[in-house]
Amino acid sequence: MTKGTKGLRKGLTSYGDAGFSLFLRTAFIKAMGFSDDALDRPIVGITDTFSDYNPCHGNVPDLIESVKRGVMLAGGLPMVFPTISIGESFAHPTSMFLRNLMSMDTEEMMRAQPMDSVVVIGGCDKTLPAQVMAAASMDLPTIVVQTGPMVVGHHKGEVLGACTDCRRLWGQHRAGNIDEAEIKTISGRLAPSVGTCMVMGTASTMACVVEALGMALPNSAAAPATHADRRRIAEMSGKRAAEMAVSGVPTPAELITEASVRNAMIVLQAIGGSTNGLIHLTAMAGRAGVHVDTEAFDKLGREIPVLLNLKPSGQHYMEHFHYAGGLPALMRELKPYLDLNAPSVSGGTLGDAIEAAETVPNQNVIYSFAAPLKQEGAMAILRGNLAPDGAVIKHSAASPSLLTHTGRAVVFDSVEDLTRRIDLPDLDVNEDDILVLRNAGPKGGPGMPEAGYLPIPLKLARQGVKDMVRISDARMSGTAFGTIVLHIAPEASVGGPLAVVQTGDRIMLDVPARRLELLIDEAELQRRLKIWETQPPHREMAKRGYAKLYEQSVLQADQGCDFDFLLRDGGETSKA
Ligand code: FES
Repeated sequence: MTKGTKGLRKGLTSYGDAGFSLFLRTAFIKAMGFSDDALDRPIVGITDTFSDYNPCHGNVPDLIESVKRGVMLAGGLPMVFPTISIGESFAHPTSMFLRNLMSMDTEEMMRAQPMDSVVVIGGCDKTLPAQVMAAASMDLPTIVVQTGPMVVGHHKGEVLGACTDCRRLWGQHRAGNIDEAEIKTISGRLAPSVGTCMVMGTASTMACVVEALGMALPNSAAAPATHADRRRIAEMSGKRAAEMAVSGVPTPAELITEASVRNAMIVLQAIGGSTNGLIHLTAMAGRAGVHVDTEAFDKLGREIPVLLNLKPSGQHYMEHFHYAGGLPALMRELKPYLDLNAPSVSGGTLGDAIEAAETVPNQNVIYSFAAPLKQEGAMAILRGNLAPDGAVIKHSAASPSLLTHTGRAVVFDSVEDLTRRIDLPDLDVNEDDILVLRNAGPKGGPGMPEAGYLPIPLKLARQGVKDMVRISDARMSGTAFGTIVLHIAPEASVGGPLAVVQTGDRIMLDVPARRLELLIDEAELQRRLKIWETQPPHREMAKRGYAKLYEQSVLQADQGCDFDFLLRDGGETSKA
């Protein structure tokens, strides 16, 4: 059904004379050589997120060409426009600090410029969430094209994956087992092509979650960035976007529903997804007015096993997932749990996508539900007096022996404090202790750095210690392995109990019981919290600009770290 104003007539610049506004717009765009016939077509916007600072988006120019071809094959007019691009390791202080800025930029450019549908091209960790958040707020027919994963690397006969092996090999370098010359060679082999990290990190997780939500074409998550399939997916997406520009459906609000969000939560558990995926899903769903219930997510985690044999929970990489049939083949194993009627941007349903899934004999990448890779899902939600609003652990990538552990706290007050002291020879620490990092949350970081993967203190690493319990209000790369509790809410910087843990306190982690407890008297805990409240430690606040807006507006991890004023109701629920 065609509704409202279309094409070039949409969202006219305000001159007080609509006819003149259209005349002027047409006159100026003709400077680019467009004909009247072209300008009369349905318009498909295409985001250009290429940047020399973002190798994960290095194939975006090629993908844009393929999307444009698809749009024109279907009779539409493709219009490419730039938005912010965020490359994970090039974003200071963190990419998370900029996610909401990218979502605002993308939303407002969709709103300001005339387009009947839009293709958003993204891949690096924060880009897909930012784009889907924007799309959900704008509610314009939108299709996502993921940039796709890199191909794998090789070193001394070993297959390498960014960035699970980045951390492992850097750890070996720190421990003195890999010298300077070799680590330099390795730096040229970990990321051997453009595209996103090829393990089940945040980028791969979001590519799968977005497909599970129905916002990207079926079987689009895993095709490598450099594979011809990736360009075919882009072309098909362009064609589909041109159809959506005419029909006006489906809109993101029709796709991001209670049912599709639940489907995405199931997929997040079954793929061994990144903990960041939960924050981003909460934010994306929130923009569509759907609440992510972390208790329900945890319950699903007890029912849905990890089926995907990808690093860091398993052994393979995204390209192998693609060759094994991709997400539709994995979802086939989960059929009884999924809402198969959930619509897809393809025009069909999730059930249709699963029906069309390939069956690949003798593959060992996608495990069956009957004989899964891990008996439980990837993540668990923890609560207790240390995390009244919850915390998360990716127990599928943790040491089983540490999932129930009580130890002495060794506290670091900030990321800077951690950096300064973690490797000191006289640091009072042993392998049974629990490393605690605070003031690294959404506000405290600021930007909730991926500092939750606290390094093993050098003196313990040299003794061969590979894992310890580590807890924080920070995030962690989805590519990391370890017994690591993250996203503790409320964070220390707003007076959460994490703020008053002292070195020497005992902490109990009990993942099977979903508990995280500071083992001190309730009266003593309240006494410490009272002191913190009356004399909060000094914190340097931003005085101007985006940093100030961020500090004033960012919500806690359990609310997706969105800005309060960007929520569907303008923040009314966050104040309740
Ligand atoms: Fe971009 Fe990993 S750094 S996806």
